[in-house]
Order: sequence, then structure tokens, then C-alpha cells
Amino acid sequence: MNVAVIGSNGQLGTDLCEVFATRHTVIPLTHADIEITDLDGSRQVLQSLRPDVVLCTAAAHNVPKCESEPEQAFRINGLGSLHLAKLSAELGFKLVQYSTDYVFDGSKGKPYVETDAVAPQSVYAITKYAGEQLIRNYCEKFFIVRVSGIYGKVPCRAKNHTNFVVNMIQAAATKPEVRVVTDEVLTPTPTYEIARNTLELVETEAYDVYHMTCQGEVSWYEFARTIFDALHLRTPLYQASVRDFPSVVKRPFYSVLDNANLKRLGIDRMPHWKDALLAFLRQHYGAS
Ligand SMILES: NC(=O)c1ccc[n+]([C@@H]2O[C@H](COP(=O)([O-])OP(=O)(O)OC[C@H]3O[C@@H](n4cnc5c(N)ncnc54)[C@H](OP(=O)(O)O)[C@@H]3O)[C@@H](O)[C@H]2O)c1
Repeated sequence: MNVAVIGSNGQLGTDLCEVFATRHTVIPLTHADIEITDLDGSRQVLQSLRPDVVLCTAAAHNVPKCESEPEQAFRINGLGSLHLAKLSAELGFKLVQYSTDYVFDGSKGKPYVETDAVAPQSVYAITKYAGEQLIRNYCEKFFIVRVSGIYGKVPCRAKNHTNFVVNMIQAAATKPEVRVVTDEVLTPTPTYEIARNTLELVETEAYDVYHMTCQGEVSWYEFARTIFDALHLRTPLYQASVRDFPSVVKRPFYSVLDNANLKRLGIDRMPHWKDALLAFLRQHYGAS
């Protein structure tokens, strides 16, 4: 298959390109190659390339910036998704759009399955959910893939080239002590594992919404503790509460996802978050 990757130089896009290249022909598209908020321009690009699959990682997902620039967030996360959905219907490609655990508000307190009611709380989450709904209603060959707490070897472009792993390493190097919250729980997931599982998913025709995270759950503090221990970071690390860091953004305090639809298909290959994190730290940061 010819697989176009939108956001090919991003955190997730980089791993998608590498993993898909093992089985398919990858067409990497950076922001310089395609602008998803421009329907006609995107049509021109995709019409000439004739991909069988489009993997879209493009998003406005600097969460505080989405609060201060809601029009831009709606333009990219909402309208951009609508454009790709219309082009999927017109040109016939399978569309994969990545979404977020933040479509939930956390009140369930147990892992969310795909059929659970959403309650997005921030401009970021609401615009991502708008994108989901537009895709569901404007094309048929879609996979909406909700991910959570992602990190990869090329850090996130929208978040000033960082991710949680990079942030912790930098904080340990520059601060006298580091404080991380215990009362937000999620399942961190490396982009490489998402890419591997996406590869298997798009080779099916089981169009639907999918949760795609590692197994298990952890607070941001325990996530940080694991990084500090694995990399022998000596800076003191303390537990904190979200109340210690007042924010304009509402975030779910519990956003663990159950990969129920992947399990149903028999293709949930996601490892436990800790095994995945330790493997990532060994491969990219020399952890022993
Ligand atoms: N980070 C997380 O923890 C997390 C959690 C849940 C879900 N997600 C979702 O995961 C996905 C991938 O995240 P990521 O960390 O890989 O992001 P990233 O590193 O910021 O990569 C996004 C890519 O999309 C490109 N892009 C941005 N706006 C575009 C537009 N309007 N048209 C075309 N290309 C555009 C960016 O190019 P430029 O940088 O050159 O603009 C970049 O190459 C996003 O959908 C995000 O919402 C992330």
C-alpha cells in the first residue's frame, strides 16, 4: 500500500514512517508539503499522490495555547479533520486520525472503553472530539485512534520539542528539586508501540474508534519516579497535587483507556507501560 504520513517529522509521524516502511511504501508529508486547514491545497497534494492510506498526526495540541488561540485549534483539529474526511470519501483512501484520552473527564474512575460517553473539558479536547465527529460523519473508511501521554525519540514539535521524558531529564539537570503530581492517572505510551499497532490495524477494514495505549496505569509522579530511577537522576523528586499548580486548563484526573476494540479484533499488542518505558530509556537514553 502507499501510505501518506501527515506530520512525518513529528513525534508520532517519525515512528509511523519507520514502522510502515517495513511493509509499505511511505510518502512522508511535513507541514511544508501539506496544510490540512486548506481543503483545495490538500486535495491537490493527495490527488496527485493517490495514497491508499493517510495517517494524520497533525494537530493543535499545545493544550494551554489551544485555550488562548481557540480559533486556530478549531481550524486545525476540527476543520482539518473535516477536510481529510471529505478527501477520504472523494479519493477512497483509508484515514487514520489520532485523538486523545482528554475526550473523557475522568469521572468514571475505571478504564474507559470506546463506547463510554465523552465529556471533553478544554478547547483542545473539545476540538479534537469535534474532529472525531466530523470524520465519523463525512467518511466511512476511518480509524480514530485515541492515545495518551505519548513520548518518542523525536520529541513533540507542538510542545517546544519536549515530552514528559525530556522534561524530567531537563528538570533534573536544572532544578534543585522536582515536584510531580500524584493525582492525575494515565497510561504513558511510546509512539513506536502506537506505530506498530496502527500498522496491524490499518491492514484490516474494521473501521471504528480505537483506544491504543499501553497496559496498566500510573500517576505522573510514578511515571517520573521510574524515569529518575532508570536514569539514576539524583535530584530530589517530590510528590505534589494538581492543586499546587493552578492552571487555566481543565484536565481529566483519570484518563486510563481500555483497548477494548483492539482486544475484540485480537490485535491488542500493547505492552505494559513500565516495560515499554524501560525499553525506550535503554534504547534512547542509555539506561541499564
Ligand atoms: N502529546 C501527547 O501526549 C498526546 C496525547 C494524546 C493525543 N495526542 C495526539 O497525538 C498526535 C501526534 O502528536 P505528536 O506529539 O506526534 O505531535 P507533533 O510532534 O507536534 O507533530 C505534529 C506534526 O503535524 C504537523 N502539523 C501541525 N499542524 C499542521 C497542519 N495544519 N497541516 C499539516 N501538518 C501540520 C507538524 O508540523 P509543524 O511542527 O512544522 O507545524 C508536525 O510535523 C496529535 O494528534 C495529538 O493530538 C498527543
